[in-house]
Amino acid sequence: MVDSIEKIVSLAKRRGFVFLSSEIYGGFGSCYDFGPLGVEMKNNIKKSWWQEMVRQRGDIVGLDSAILMSSKIWQASGHLTAGFADELVECKKCHKRFRSDEISRSKAKNQKSKCPECGGALTKPKKFNLMMKTYVGPLEDEASITYLRAETCQGIYVNFKNVLQTMRLKIPFGIAQIGKAFRNEITPGNFIYRTREFEQMEMQWFCSPKDADKFFDYWKKERLNWYLNLGIEKKHLRFREVKKSELAHYAKRAVDIEYKFPFGSSRSGGEAGWREIEGIHNRGDWDLSNHSKHSGEDLKYEGYFPYIIETSAGVDRTLFAFLCSAFTEVKGGRTKTTKSVKEVETVLKLHKRLAPIKVAVLPLVKNNPEIVKKAKEVYDVLKSHFMCQYDEVGSIGRRYRRADEVGVPFAITVDFDSLKKNDVTIRDRDTMKQKRVKIKDLILCLGKQL
Ligand code: GAP
Repeated sequence: MVDSIEKIVSLAKRRGFVFLSSEIYGGFGSCYDFGPLGVEMKNNIKKSWWQEMVRQRGDIVGLDSAILMSSKIWQASGHLTAGFADELVECKKCHKRFRSDEISRSKAKNQKSKCPECGGALTKPKKFNLMMKTYVGPLEDEASITYLRAETCQGIYVNFKNVLQTMRLKIPFGIAQIGKAFRNEITPGNFIYRTREFEQMEMQWFCSPKDADKFFDYWKKERLNWYLNLGIEKKHLRFREVKKSELAHYAKRAVDIEYKFPFGSSRSGGEAGWREIEGIHNRGDWDLSNHSKHSGEDLKYEGYFPYIIETSAGVDRTLFAFLCSAFTEVKGGRTKTTKSVKEVETVLKLHKRLAPIKVAVLPLVKNNPEIVKKAKEVYDVLKSHFMCQYDEVGSIGRRYRRADEVGVPFAITVDFDSLKKNDVTIRDRDTMKQKRVKIKDLILCLGKQL
């Protein structure tokens, strides 16, 4: 587990996981771009979630709804009115802005709130809506205003009837969706933890009101297990019951899954580091009843509005948590190139399913044309089966080290014996153990382990 956010930011930039958006123009509004390794890892997270939440179940179906929707949806959902606003305060001296819940949390009891940056006096809190406004069509008037979606689930609610009828579903069942969401956050920050553009993986479970509590507990357990099965240690995960006063406008009850990050503290102001990565919400009949009322469409099922249990995870945030949890430093090094007391070697012990590159193919030396040719042949055979990387630059020790740093589970080396015996060595990232395998058996052998 990493001990500082800077180490992750540096690795992410240096090795092509995450770049600052619009970097050559000085960056833009707390948005980030995912580089070649970042996009692979993100896809693996989404694939893993989809596999578990949709493919392996008979009772959840998928959806991909539009980001742009009628602004009436956001009126009905409560996002344009009371619900979806943070309270903002501004320092009268340095003019920095803060969320007032964060200020009140950090100040000692009976102490007047002051600017955490310069100690200046603060303005009274003002409500600030987080929806990102835009215009659809050539005219920029009231009628053409709409909003970039702030949560993916609204697209699910307004398609409830379509999905129910076309798939002939019976309650309880779920609809899952992965997609971009946008929020004009007042205080984005901590790298990709809180950004203005991010991705969500949301599942809405429609059930009878009497079963809502039972399913709430069921989904809490299921979702926690997903993180555990992908390698996050139990001691770095916990549930936090969200206080009544903090509940979102739609929620009857909410539990956050928190991960212990190397920065800050949670909304509860509790122990340092604990921060939300996913929310489990009992949304009651808020969404279906409000959309029924505002659209005039009857969204009841057998005469009642189903309750909704929602699981809502952020792709970017979970990627950040997986990186932090996998980051391992070995003092004194593990490979020949780093066996020095002063040096520290980094190994990203990502779960094999999440690792952006699964196999590195390395010729032992690059000045032997036969070895290079054979290594390229191996790479060509493997690359249509696994995400592979061919690397011939630098000593073999350095190349192992480079592969370890980005979490490649298996490194294959083609050496002099390979030319005679048609076999290679496979090196395991975590144990560093090597074994020889015939080239013809490689796909089967790696396939079993990946
Ligand atoms: N549909 C419910 C919903 O959106 P939320 O607690 O506001 O609930 C769910 O968000 C998850 O989405 C969070 O746990 C987090 O992982 C992710 N998320 C929310 N705001 C985010 C932001 N500004 N940047 C990155 N991820 C965010």
